[in-house]
Amino acid sequence: MASKLLTKLGAIRDPKIARNPNLPLNATRRLFSHRPISTPPHSPPSSPPDNGKSAHKKSKPTSSLKDLELAKFSAIADSWWDSVGPFKPLHAMNPTRLAFLRSTLCRHFRKDPHVARPFEGLKIVDVGCGGGILSEPLARMGATVTGIDALEKNINIARLHAGLDPVTSTIEYCCTTAEKLVKEQKMFDAVIALEVIEHVADPTEFCKSLSALTHPGGATVISTINRSMRSYATAIVAAEYLLHWLPIGTHQWSSFLTPEELVLILQRASINVKEMAGFVYNPLTGRWSLSDDISVNFIAFGTKNGQ
Ligand SMILES: C[S@@+](CC[C@H](N)C(=O)[O-])C[C@H]1O[C@@H](n2cnc3c(N)ncnc32)[C@H](O)[C@@H]1O
Repeated sequence: MASKLLTKLGAIRDPKIARNPNLPLNATRRLFSHRPISTPPHSPPSSPPDNGKSAHKKSKPTSSLKDLELAKFSAIADSWWDSVGPFKPLHAMNPTRLAFLRSTLCRHFRKDPHVARPFEGLKIVDVGCGGGILSEPLARMGATVTGIDALEKNINIARLHAGLDPVTSTIEYCCTTAEKLVKEQKMFDAVIALEVIEHVADPTEFCKSLSALTHPGGATVISTINRSMRSYATAIVAAEYLLHWLPIGTHQWSSFLTPEELVLILQRASINVKEMAGFVYNPLTGRWSLSDDISVNFIAFGTKNGQ
């Protein structure tokens, strides 16, 4: 899948990739196209069958906040640290997400991925941190972490939980948005927003804010869900209606972005996507792993232009 996307976005421009579409996963992920592409991303469709044809135009929102989305998170905020509750999938995905972050950030910032605190010296912001389930391991890996979330309830829970351990009590939690941090002229070595972009009002503006928070030469990492028929079947029908992993209505299929759209949006915000991977779930082991199948859950690592 990742290599198919490479073919679509990069291979036509890069003869080296075009000649060898079967490059191993690591190679294809790293070779991910970073050339400018002029085609604008199309608006997401409102439901799977119409596939974008009837997307209606909305006026541009003034902030990244979507009240309905925040209300959903507010209703389940007390469950952030219940690993079998509504955030079970995020808890289960965490080791895999951290493996991707460890490998990409260490390679980019020339850090040793084998040491206990590989992110020592890095300033990282976790945008849409929720209860802090990603912020905490990042701090344990040595990063100086700022966690921000639009919901005060989430930030209170994150602070309370982080305070239980002296290492994580160093995390600076703040109830705010990426665009507000931009106004305060805050910048970070790495800007991470996992499973957030599908809940914001305007993904393009959100990515611009993430880019503005990233130091030139720094890294931006985003994970989300692909707007594919498979994601409709698995991330919505199965996860919400059949398995009840997530409350019904957690995700709107029309708010998902395809990997191509995300790459283009980021490119326009001066972030070049260098690596991409999928997360796949094994129902037999109950574990998630990294894969080149980006048809449902995927993560993109990009770097900001300039130095
Ligand atoms: C699915 S959760 C992801 C939490 C965390 N990033 C993780 O993956 O473990 C989405 C989070 O984004 C927050 N959120 C939604 N829109 C936001 C926005 N515009 N700015 C900041 N946070 C936002 C929600 O409150 C929620 O905590």
